[in-house]
Amino acid sequence: MNLLDSLVDRAKANKQRIVLPEGTEERTLTAADQLIHDGVAEIILLGNPGVIAERAKKLGLDNVDRATIIDPKNHDKKEIYTDLLLELRKKKGMTPEQATLLVEDPLYLACLMIKNGDADGEIAGAQNTTGDVLRPALQIIKTSPGVKVVSGAFIMFTQTPQYGENGILLFADCAVMPNPTAEELASIAVASAQTMRSLVGVEPRVAMLSFSTKGSAEHEMIDKVREATRIAKETSPSLLIDGELQADAALVPAVGASKAPGSAIAGKANVLVFPTLESGNIGYKLVQRLGNAEAIGPVLQGMAAPVNDLSRGCSVDDIYKMVAIAANQAIGMKQYK
Ligand code: ACO
Repeated sequence: MNLLDSLVDRAKANKQRIVLPEGTEERTLTAADQLIHDGVAEIILLGNPGVIAERAKKLGLDNVDRATIIDPKNHDKKEIYTDLLLELRKKKGMTPEQATLLVEDPLYLACLMIKNGDADGEIAGAQNTTGDVLRPALQIIKTSPGVKVVSGAFIMFTQTPQYGENGILLFADCAVMPNPTAEELASIAVASAQTMRSLVGVEPRVAMLSFSTKGSAEHEMIDKVREATRIAKETSPSLLIDGELQADAALVPAVGASKAPGSAIAGKANVLVFPTLESGNIGYKLVQRLGNAEAIGPVLQGMAAPVNDLSRGCSVDDIYKMVAIAANQAIGMKQYK
């Protein structure tokens, strides 16, 4: 059984409540229909019920009426969520008028539902930018206890079984932190290792990437990666991590052996941590497009509940898979609470 099938099976066995704020969007509706049909999750759609019913009919979707449908402008818990939003954000200067308006924004409403215990996870981004999906989640759901930053990982299913874990690798951060500090980069490395362990089910071997391998060059950007590696080793002594490594030294055994002799990671890495968002975002897209890899993500890591962002070019299948992934993250988080 492949990895995605096993994630879907795990989700079916322990159904989570996943909220889809872009509930009137056609790919989202089609994915919701399939997810309900297959019993992968309990689906909550946000949007005007009339519009949802009309689009579902046009698309020939028979299962959408089994979703919980919530109209952001008119529902029983509107006042409860408005009070909750105000309570959470009043120190940041939010006024009651602003809270009353924002609670009708489906992206805010989805996060408030999760915060209030009415949903277990959220998937959005088929229509909205990453920033617009993430901002309410960062403001309302916030990071897990002890975690400094939220970051975004991609599970890369490459065509090169000789690398990573039979061709599967995790890349991070590809979605959130434009220029992390050394401390933040260390936190991204630790979170990426946890994501690899919990979603892919293998022991992570983390490479901290740079344009230098073990002192082959000197620059303040390399110093940051070395410092991040040191902090990650200090905070997670059992973690298999090494850096700084160039990508070839991290992946190719012969290059790793010559450039970083004695390293337990060089030539064997299955988690690649990029030094900045630029390199991570460009890197995953190059591997996806030029290397024909399937890229699943971004899987957000470090958030107190799963909120995953979609690319606006996403397919129905991408939404289906991300719901299964969010459900698995929610199951994992509940187990370790
Ligand atoms: N981890 C945890 N908390 C964070 C993080 C983070 N990475 N970033 C921001 N926050 C918190 C802040 O502390 C703040 O909390 P507070 O209001 O309670 O004090 C809140 O989130 C808002 O922070 P701002 O800095 O005001 O938020 P901003 O508007 O700058 O947006 C965002 C943050 C959206 C994540 C921004 O950094 C961003 O847009 N990142 C790039 C996203 C992107 O475009 N990625 C590329 C595309 S993705 C792809 O291609 C797959």
